Amino acid sequence: MKILGYESSCDETGVAIVCTEKGLLGHALHSQIAMHQHYGGVVPELASRDHIRRALPLTQEVLDQTGLSLSDIDAVAYTAGPGLAGALLVGASVARSLAWALDLPAIPVHHLEGHLLSPLLAEPRPDFPFVALLVSGGHTQLMRVDGVGQYELLGETLDDAAGEAFDKSAKLMGLGYPGGPALSNMAQKGNADAVVLPRPMLHSKDLDFSFSGLKTAVLLKMKELKAQYDEVPEEQLANLAAGTEAAIVDVLAAKAIRALKETGLKRLVVAGGVGANLPLRNRLLTQAAKLKAEVFFPPVALCTDNGAMIAFAAAMRANAGLLPENLKKPGFTVRPRWELSKAGELY
Ligand code: KG4
Ligand code: ZN
Repeated sequence: MKILGYESSCDETGVAIVCTEKGLLGHALHSQIAMHQHYGGVVPELASRDHIRRALPLTQEVLDQTGLSLSDIDAVAYTAGPGLAGALLVGASVARSLAWALDLPAIPVHHLEGHLLSPLLAEPRPDFPFVALLVSGGHTQLMRVDGVGQYELLGETLDDAAGEAFDKSAKLMGLGYPGGPALSNMAQKGNADAVVLPRPMLHSKDLDFSFSGLKTAVLLKMKELKAQYDEVPEEQLANLAAGTEAAIVDVLAAKAIRALKETGLKRLVVAGGVGANLPLRNRLLTQAAKLKAEVFFPPVALCTDNGAMIAFAAAMRANAGLLPENLKKPGFTVRPRWELSKAGELY
């Protein structure tokens, strides 16, 4: 079965075709970063309008890439949530209209299920069960994954997400948007020991996270630097960026390793945009090796939002026999807020 998938929950329009037997056949992506950069963050209305402009040209691009035509497609999947309501509605409307016109089933997909299963797009594929560290712009969660659709929340952030901590800190430092890659690049030029920032909940006995205190610490540090200098020297900014990245990586790695120890599982899967962070990847690989545990990542290009993970999650549900019969019924909804443990609930 060939599934055409759409992602439009935030600032990337992604379209892909995944075959339930052969895996990913092709994908195309348009990032709105350049458009939102000017505003220092995502402007939801602009995001929605751009998804409208991009969806059909990207669909054509994927069809050309794969040499397929719409008549070869067997189902259409789309991100139904969580995300920006208007942006979700664009992808959902395009996908459902196509499905309706072609008389195909339409499959609503949970965005985080897409991220969570995306490491299975790479070789070697992790077997179930595994611990998943989901680190994106809106979510920071540790899950126990026993199979497709079997997700148990082990811990999550009580306030800001890890990606948000990167983004907000980068903004305070004037490093631009999206903050994660910008801050990480700047951090490479700095010394993490020069500025030691708080590691909230590092030693708490649970698997939860908190990042809002870190953001406040960065704010205070920036105020200090601005009072000291007319223009903050790059060396100081680089040290602060390195200190911030080190604090985030320390907490994420410590809790992920604790989750492996508590569950006794030997596989850790890392997904979501922050999973592209190299210091985090290296730290997890080193620490997990000490426990004789393996770490799996999605291909770097598929860490941030994309259509491949959405079509792939739908394919995994199809292969697991988890798709209901009524996928051609007219009418639909999107869920801007949606718990992952309820990922199968939309049908
Ligand atoms: O998964 P994603 O593309 O979108 C959401 O579903 O939120 O994640 C985006 C987040 C942003 O906060 C971005 O700053 C962060 O991932 N990010 C990174 C890196 N690349 C993207 N954070 C740290 N290091 C990176 N290399
Ligand atoms: Zn995402």
